[in-house]
Amino acid sequence: MRVYRSQQLIRPDLQAHIFSQNLLGNVRKLKGLCPAKTKFCAVVKANAYGHGISEIVNILKQDGVDMFAVATFYEALHVATMTQQQSIFILEPVNSSQSVEEIQVCAQKGFHCVLASADSLKFVRDILQNTPHALKVHLNIETGMGRSGIEPESARPLLEQIADCPNLKLAGIYTHFATADEEDLSYANEQHERFEAFLKQDKLRGKGILIHAANSAVTIKIPQAHYDMVRCGISMYGYYSRQMKNPPVQLTPVMKLTAPITHLKTIPAGQSVSYGQSFTTQRDTLAAIVPLGYADGYRRCFSNTAMMKVGHHAAPVIGRVCMDQVILDVTGIPDIQLGRIVTVLDNHHGSVCSAYALADLADTICYEILTSIHTHVNRIIH
Ligand SMILES: Cc1ncc(COP(=O)(O)O)c(C=O)c1O
Repeated sequence: MRVYRSQQLIRPDLQAHIFSQNLLGNVRKLKGLCPAKTKFCAVVKANAYGHGISEIVNILKQDGVDMFAVATFYEALHVATMTQQQSIFILEPVNSSQSVEEIQVCAQKGFHCVLASADSLKFVRDILQNTPHALKVHLNIETGMGRSGIEPESARPLLEQIADCPNLKLAGIYTHFATADEEDLSYANEQHERFEAFLKQDKLRGKGILIHAANSAVTIKIPQAHYDMVRCGISMYGYYSRQMKNPPVQLTPVMKLTAPITHLKTIPAGQSVSYGQSFTTQRDTLAAIVPLGYADGYRRCFSNTAMMKVGHHAAPVIGRVCMDQVILDVTGIPDIQLGRIVTVLDNHHGSVCSAYALADLADTICYEILTSIHTHVNRIIH
């Protein structure tokens, strides 16, 4: 199979500091919410939520993680080069747009795959028949997420077909909750009941099949849905799916993004700043340029609204965020000089530039802020 590798550009001036102890501490705390036998699946798709998939897998493979979940076959191949100890679970269902070779590699490497339809079952069965390999499959039961799950009635015949096929091994049955991050858990509870009903009717528990349902929010808020394994993404990286008033565990953000001041200039009062003249200085202003912008994942909607931190001081973004430059007002902040390091994304929840604060400004969720951080940002492990 051809996997094309281009040489990756890294920007050493843009640094994403990854604090391993925070990551491992968050995993410990999340596991502490579950019974000791519950397995922990670390979700590392989307470049480990923007933290760097290689870096995060390398830290986690040492300590207490049973499985890594990725979105795609290609991410699975990448993770497989780093660890043999943990299983790898591919969340995108197998489908007939994949090549024969991909399915064969999934079976050979023991990747856990999702089956989402009778057609895809036939597709993989035909590929694997007369081979010595069995593909590990998980059935995703539709309980209300409305994405790629199979309706319980359609899942039953698939269970029979899997049992009859020597090239398929039923490794798991799972569901995914749509609203567990919300304060009102009534829909999540309904989903849970539907999943329970399916498991009970088909007497699927206790047969060595992994039953799982919990993302981060469910892990934290619905202990009765932990089952055999939890699948945590966002909370492993230090965030609640949405901010919680009295969380049962204190999570610590894992990543802090910094960049240097590369240009300083005094802009006289009354002059407009950056594209579109969206900001005019009200006083003589010491302006600092930081060399990142929307091409690096620092959103254009942060123009005139977001803050960065210089030491303990908050410095407002003035004017439009450019493709690869941001202008800060650093007037009156002590010890401003070229090369001084500025915090762009902080690793404290209460900070003016926390992922939550930036998500609020962008009218989005912290997931999007984190996953937007470009792969060329240099990840530094502490
Ligand atoms: C099926 C599945 N399980 C678990 C997760 C992890 O979710 P979270 O980051 O909210 O923990 C995801 C993320 O999108 C997912 O798609």
